[in-house]
Amino acid sequence: MENLEHLLERNRTWAKKMTDADPDFFKRLSQQQSPSYLWIGCSDSRVSANEIVGLLPGEMFVHRNVANVVVHTDLNCLAVIQYAVEVLKVKHIIVCGHYGCGGVKAALDNSKYGLIDNWLRHVQDVKHQHAAALDALADDTARFRTLCELNVIEQVLNVSRTTIVQSAWERGQELAVHGWIYGLEDGLLRELDICITCQSELSEKYLNAVAASN
Ligand code: CO
Repeated sequence: MENLEHLLERNRTWAKKMTDADPDFFKRLSQQQSPSYLWIGCSDSRVSANEIVGLLPGEMFVHRNVANVVVHTDLNCLAVIQYAVEVLKVKHIIVCGHYGCGGVKAALDNSKYGLIDNWLRHVQDVKHQHAAALDALADDTARFRTLCELNVIEQVLNVSRTTIVQSAWERGQELAVHGWIYGLEDGLLRELDICITCQSELSEKYLNAVAASN
């Protein structure tokens, strides 16, 4: 079996650095977490949630899957959203996609990788829903970037339509759903033109964001 001692060694170095800077850091965190943010992002190794926004352990609740997809029947994702909203009472849900996403590319190109093709059907649904706008774009590069953006916008809509978020808004809980996209080339996050804070702004903001991405 491959020896992973180098990773354990890095862990010890990291833990020491953290306690040198703040001796009670882990003791405090071990007693409770109270993150303000839920991050729903891609599993891509280059888009590590806490690191790119400079947050420490304890500051962000995280769910990641291939191509940052939020499916209405995905119990895993729904459980994360429910716990984050109803127990941790996060104030922000950030759906973060990224340009150059392999999952989005596979969906766009109809590539075959096995079981995962079924998961990526959800991204293909986004592609088909926006086929006219995507077809009208000048080239494949533009189509790829735009589908990465549209996928985030659709997943923001899916989050907003969950019973969990709908119920939170109904009882007046402060909760915003944001759509962001990350550039692998420059390490920068960009806000897509979509931030939904209540049911009444859902449709208009969705339509505006879609229009802005084309
Ligand atoms: Co990706």
